[in-house]
Formats: sequence, structure tokens, C-alpha cells
Amino acid sequence: MAEFLDGLKRTNFCGKIGKKELDTTVTLMGWVQSRRDHGGVIFIDLRDYTGIVQAVFNPDISPEAHAAAHALKDEYVIAVTGDVRYRPEDSINEKLPTGLYEVMVTNVRILNESNPLPFPIEDEIDAGEPIRLKYRYLDLRRRPMHNQITMRHQLMSTTRSYLTDRGFTEIETPFLTRSTPEGARDYLVPSRVNPGKFYALPQSPQLFKQLLMIAGFDKYFQVVKCFRDEDLRADRQPEFTQIDMELAFVEAEDVRKITEGLLNEIFSKIRGASLPKPFPVLTYDESMRRFGTDKPDLRIPWELSDFTDIARDVDFKVFRSAAESSGLVKGLNAKFCASLSRKEIDDLLEEIQPYGAKGLAWIKITDKGPQSPIVKFLNEGFLEAIFKRTGASQGDLLLFQADKSEVVNPALNHLRNHLGKRMFPISKDDFRPLWVINFPLLEYDPDARRYVAMHHPFTAPMVEDIPLLSEDPSKVRAQSYDIVLNGYEIGGGSIRNHSRELQSQVFSLLNISENEARQKFGFLLEALNHGAPPHGGIALGLDRIAMLLSGASSIRDVIAFPKTQKAVCMLTEAPSEVSSGQLQELYLKLIPPRK
Ligand code: AMO
Ligand code: AMP
Repeated sequence: MAEFLDGLKRTNFCGKIGKKELDTTVTLMGWVQSRRDHGGVIFIDLRDYTGIVQAVFNPDISPEAHAAAHALKDEYVIAVTGDVRYRPEDSINEKLPTGLYEVMVTNVRILNESNPLPFPIEDEIDAGEPIRLKYRYLDLRRRPMHNQITMRHQLMSTTRSYLTDRGFTEIETPFLTRSTPEGARDYLVPSRVNPGKFYALPQSPQLFKQLLMIAGFDKYFQVVKCFRDEDLRADRQPEFTQIDMELAFVEAEDVRKITEGLLNEIFSKIRGASLPKPFPVLTYDESMRRFGTDKPDLRIPWELSDFTDIARDVDFKVFRSAAESSGLVKGLNAKFCASLSRKEIDDLLEEIQPYGAKGLAWIKITDKGPQSPIVKFLNEGFLEAIFKRTGASQGDLLLFQADKSEVVNPALNHLRNHLGKRMFPISKDDFRPLWVINFPLLEYDPDARRYVAMHHPFTAPMVEDIPLLSEDPSKVRAQSYDIVLNGYEIGGGSIRNHSRELQSQVFSLLNISENEARQKFGFLLEALNHGAPPHGGIALGLDRIAMLLSGASSIRDVIAFPKTQKAVCMLTEAPSEVSSGQLQELYLKLIPPRK
């Protein structure tokens, strides 16, 4: 039977019992972590959100409390009153912050019982994720999970005070709105009072924050939920949180500076970590050339080398034909990896086959010189250039990819991460941020046979590239920037088109007709005609930052109630079917999915 408190007041917290409480009477409330019956005396570890303290039920002190303690089971909710005293010498627990003390219970009340648990409330458990998600409220009782969620709160409160102190205003923007193009599918909400019409949940507050700049707010931010119907991974959720910002009268550098300041504050306050000042900056082209990716993990000191310029003249057909057909020939010097066996190198090929890799050429630098099935096809000059460009020395393993850039770069990036993490003690306490800037404005989508925006359609081109918009759109670079930390994209933003003409020109390059533009973004185009200041901003992925801060391996671990890879909430079993009455009210009819 559950009981109300009925006037009983908590005086202290379990984890805070210390010298100050010695020889005083306290009333504590919490959960039974464990019960040990030592013949005459019963010991309970009592837990609340601050920690654990030992409660002692001695029949000589209170026969009633001792008798009641027999009924206590794991996770029962109880209130105990008793006197704090030092533990006897032989029962001091050095590992527990309260381990010098115990509470001699004079009174106990059972406030609620608990069914047996599906898994124990301990720091390390071997329960699978489905059961942890179904009983999320129990999972969250575990200390590491609890700490991650409170750390997330610190992240939000640090952000709010840092930006507020610098003149930012937090402004809420609508959830029931129109589609905001960020490249994912929309979650739609049918409108009952407007039959046949739908709201879209925002993929980001992009358009509203731009309107707020036109409205004269100067510096906006919002800690805000965004909704994207996309394929989920460990670092993606269908609803996630952004630290969203927008500033008027700024250039890319200004946005980067305030973002660096905020991230420095967050990492030093929460982790005591200092980030480099300023963060390194790479252009997109340089990042792709040196790392094969726009999100390099800088904890790994290896870089890629390019041999395309000299590969046309070699006898090795794989290299020559890639170079001749406007592909790439690139290599990675996996330092100290020459001891890898044939089988281990074959396994590496398997690792990169998902990226389309057709083979994996390699050269080992042994004490007997270069060893490889391909050296016989490579002339002396080419070999020399390879050794020079990769900085190869004895004990190294050189790995090569020759193919289209869409295969070569991701395959070598994968090998760099895969082998790099094996060779170096990659620490989760080592935070290596960088900016990747000036992405291409547009990307050709071969399926849709048109250009799509690489960031989003409101991103401005680089001023010197504006003439290329009409001459060669694929060469136009954007005033955009991504912030990357340890191989994760933790944020992205850009300077926007505040010129109505430029925005229209970009829409037409994206094959968005004047008509469609007016229909979808008419309100923005209209607003651009009413004194839009130059402006730009950024959105940081709060969940990903929380994951990196806490060393978790998935953003699910830093979200109180996350969804599975299939976008299901295991706890509430959302999404769920609705009644035919509800559908009728919304003028909706269901079509069964095609088999
Ligand atoms: P972008 O689409 O790059 O930019 O999103 C910003 C950051 O949000 C995080 N993020 C996600 N986190 C978890 N789950 C997801 N499904 C998910 N999708 C994105 C990433 C990403 O870097 N409006 C622009 C910002 C701007 O231009 O100011 C935007 O939303 O860390
Ligand atoms: P082949 O001539 O196809 O037998 O390949 C000779 C060597 O080159 C083998 O070690 C292959 O694994 C490797 N190789 C084949 N295709 C590629 C490629 N596209 N990039 C890098 N190495 C390759």
C-alpha cells in the first residue's frame, strides 16, 4: 500500500550526510538500493538523487523499525528517521562519500512498494537496449544515466546564460508551421479546422530566425526541438535539439567567433577541458584533399596523399585508368602497420567494400625494402614520389585507392579512422574541434537530375563566386561553415542571402520556379523586400555535443526518452494507431501499405 507523506518532512539528502549531521536526527526519503540481514541487525543502502547512505535497523534501538525492515525489498520507497553516527571502524566504506557514517533508524515508513525489477539499478548492467528503453524510468535511476541527463541540463543552462550575457534574446518559433527545407522528409500534422491541409513540424527554425533578423532583434537564439523524418543512426534522432542562433550585421568570422566562445565555455565549465583558441579552419576542398571527408577526426595524426597528377604515366592499369578517367589516385600512410598480415589486409578491403571499393593496393616498407604485388608495375620515379609524399619509412603500410572521388575519399577516410583508432590511444577526453568552411553551394543530384543546396537554399554564395552562378554553378562556393569535433559534425551554418535578387537566382538554379518559390517561401521573399539586414547564423546539435561531453557512444544515452532506430518510443509505444473517429474528424482515409 502506498502512503502519502501526511506531514512528514525530509530534512536531509542521503548523499550529503557528513560530519555536519553527526549526532543529529535526520529524516531521509528514497529507494532501497539493497538490504543485508546480519543476524540481529538489518542494513539498508538508502538512495536518493544525491547518493547512498547506510541505514541501520537494530532491534535494541527500535524493535518496531527492525520488524518493519524485514518487509523491505529492492526499490521500495521509504522514509527513515534516525540519528547519524560514525560507523564502527571495521565497517567504514572508503568507496562511498558517506562511507564514514550511518543512520541508526528509530522510525521507518514504507511510502510505496515495487515489483521485482527487470534489471538491477547499478552503474554497469548487461540488460539490452530494448528492455532499458521500455523501462526507461528505471534505466534513468542508474547513476551514469542520471549524470548524463543532468549534464545535459548544465549544457542548456550554460548556453542560455552565455548567450544572454552577450545580448542574445531567446525567442520561440512555431512548431505547427510550413515545410522548412533542410533536406529531410517532413513530419506532417493534419489540420482539423482546415480540411485537407497540413502543418509541417519544423526541420529547423531557419526561416523564422531570418525573419527575426528582418524584425530587428539583432541576436537571436533558441534551444529548440527540430523534427526530421530520416533514416536514423547512432547520432541521429527523428526529434533532436539544436542550439539555434542568428545574428544581424555579421560575417562568417563573427558567427564562428561567438560559437567558439560558447563551446569553450561549455567544455571548460562542464569538462574542465580547454579547446584550442582559435579553432583550426580548413576549407572544404582542403579537408577533402587531406582527409577524404568534411568531418575529419583530428585525434588521428594521419593524412591522405594524392598521386593523381603522376598516375597517368604508370604501367599499373588500375592507377592509370582512374587518373585518365578524371578519377583520383590517393594513398594513406598507415604508420607502423607493416606487420599486418595478408588476411588482415584482405579484411580491410572488406571494410571499404560498402563504399564501392573494388580493390585495395598496398605497399609494405620492410627492412628488405618495399614489398607489394604492385611495385613491379610502378616505375622508380613514381615510387620515389609516393615515398616522399607519404613520408613513408620502414615499418609503414601504404594503402591506395584508385577510382571515382566518391569511392576513393570515403574509403580512405574509413581506413584512416579504422586503423588510426587501432594504432593510437584515442581518448574521449581529447577534444579536437575544427571549422570546415566554404562548401560548394550546390551539389548535383543525379537521381533528381538537378542541383540541390548543399546546406540549405538560403545560404549565400561567396562574393567572388557570384559571377559563376550564371557561368558554372557547380564551382560556386558558399559562405558556409560546419563545426566538427572528433569526427562528428556538431553544427553548421552560413551567411544568408539578404538580397531578394540573389535569393531568386539561387532558387532558379535549384530548379525552384518563380511560382513555386512564391508559393513555398513567398513570405520570406516578401520580407527580403522590406529592409533585410545582412545576417547569418548557425545551429549546433545539442544532443551530439552532450554525447561527446559525456563520452557516450550514442545520442540516445543523453536523451531522457529517445526513440529506436525505427523511430519508435518503446516506453509509450508511439507511434500508434488512431480511432476511425479521429481519422474522420481530420478527413483522412488510410491506404494499406503495399506488400
Ligand atoms: P543542420 O541541418 O546542419 O543546419 O543542423 C544543425 C546541426 O544539428 C544536428 N543534427 C542532428 N542531431 C541529431 N539528430 C538529427 N537527426 C540531426 N540533424 C541535424 C547536427 C547538425 O550539425 N538551419 C540550419 C542551421 C543554420 O544554417 O543556421 C540547420 O538546421 O549536429
Ligand atoms: P588487379 O589488377 O585487379 O588484380 O589488382 C591488382 C591490385 O590492385 C590488387 O591488390 C587489388 O586489390 C588492387 N586494386 C584493384 N582495384 C583497385 C582500386 N580501384 N583501387 C586500389 N587498388 C585496387
